[in-house]
Amino acid sequence: MRILATGGAGYVGSAVVRELLARGHDAFAYDNLSKGYRQSIPADRLIEGDLADRDLLVHTLLTHRIEAVMHFAAFIAVGESVEKPDIYYRNNIANSLTLLEAMMEVGVKKMLFSSTAAVYAPIAHGALTEDSPKYPASPYAVSKYTIERMIGDFSVAYGLGYTILRYFNACGAGADGKYGEAHEPETHLIPLVLQVPLGQREFIGVFGNDYDTTDGTCIRDYVHVDDLADAHIKAIDAVTDSAGSIYNIGTGTGNSVLEVIRVAGEVVGQNIPMKFMDRRQGDAARLVAGSERLRRELGWTPKYENLHEIIATAWQWHKTHPHGYEDKQSVPLEA
Ligand code: UFG
Repeated sequence: MRILATGGAGYVGSAVVRELLARGHDAFAYDNLSKGYRQSIPADRLIEGDLADRDLLVHTLLTHRIEAVMHFAAFIAVGESVEKPDIYYRNNIANSLTLLEAMMEVGVKKMLFSSTAAVYAPIAHGALTEDSPKYPASPYAVSKYTIERMIGDFSVAYGLGYTILRYFNACGAGADGKYGEAHEPETHLIPLVLQVPLGQREFIGVFGNDYDTTDGTCIRDYVHVDDLADAHIKAIDAVTDSAGSIYNIGTGTGNSVLEVIRVAGEVVGQNIPMKFMDRRQGDAARLVAGSERLRRELGWTPKYENLHEIIATAWQWHKTHPHGYEDKQSVPLEA
């Protein structure tokens, strides 16, 4: 299939593009490189462009005869979205509308959308199903939920076929050690924890220890990026015209911030100093995935279900790439 991946040079997007190419799809990344890295995908698969540029989107969809769009591009930092909601509403919601309009203009009617566990109201026990009550607590979560609703409305009105994938906490790195997580600035827990043994940070700050959870710190479901990529491949093969599906992607296991720090310490073989800090605005206490629908309907099974193994892949990447994809500006576009 000929697929355009917006944000396809980002952490999850590039993992999916690489996997699509490996499995024989004709995939291209559409990315303005504001967060993504050209080194993360083959040079001839990158189309450098902005989602706000409707003309370029239309041109790209037509010239590459795109059959389906995977929409990864978005700002993703929960805390930042509370401080700067305007850029989240502009970049995530307004630009997604531009993308949908461009797709409808040229008749591309298949879409996969990267959504988030952050749309749910947290629950104290058990796992969230796709039908669990929603309570998007941050502007980031509101932006993703709004896009979900827009996609649903476009499906009813214009026959868009779609699959929405609600990721829990994407993490880990490719088994070959060449690609991994690199955000600027980094806000995600596992890379920040690993900055301590790398000597880049003295301690890890823990955002809140007074949540109503087992040890007072937030609980998340950490799912390996390769397993996310596999879910996308299975989902794109299953998207049909004019129908919609929604799937959670997570392992079903919740780990607290303190558990992540402890396991990371085991992986690197040293104690990782930590300090309790104030809560981060917009954080949910506990988000754990029920992924039965994805397992049942698409035959998805995560390869990585053990936090130690997941963090070991992240550590392999970070210790060999302590500054991520270095020299991001210096690689020529054509290669
Ligand atoms: N945390 C800390 N200290 C840090 C960084 C994070 O204690 O320095 C805590 C957070 O408060 C949170 C947990 O670690 O409780 C995980 O935080 P991340 O920033 O790594 O991830 P989030 O859960 O905030 O968000 C991620 C993605 C979102 C997605 C969400 C769904 O960034 O896109 O998972 O759960 F929506």
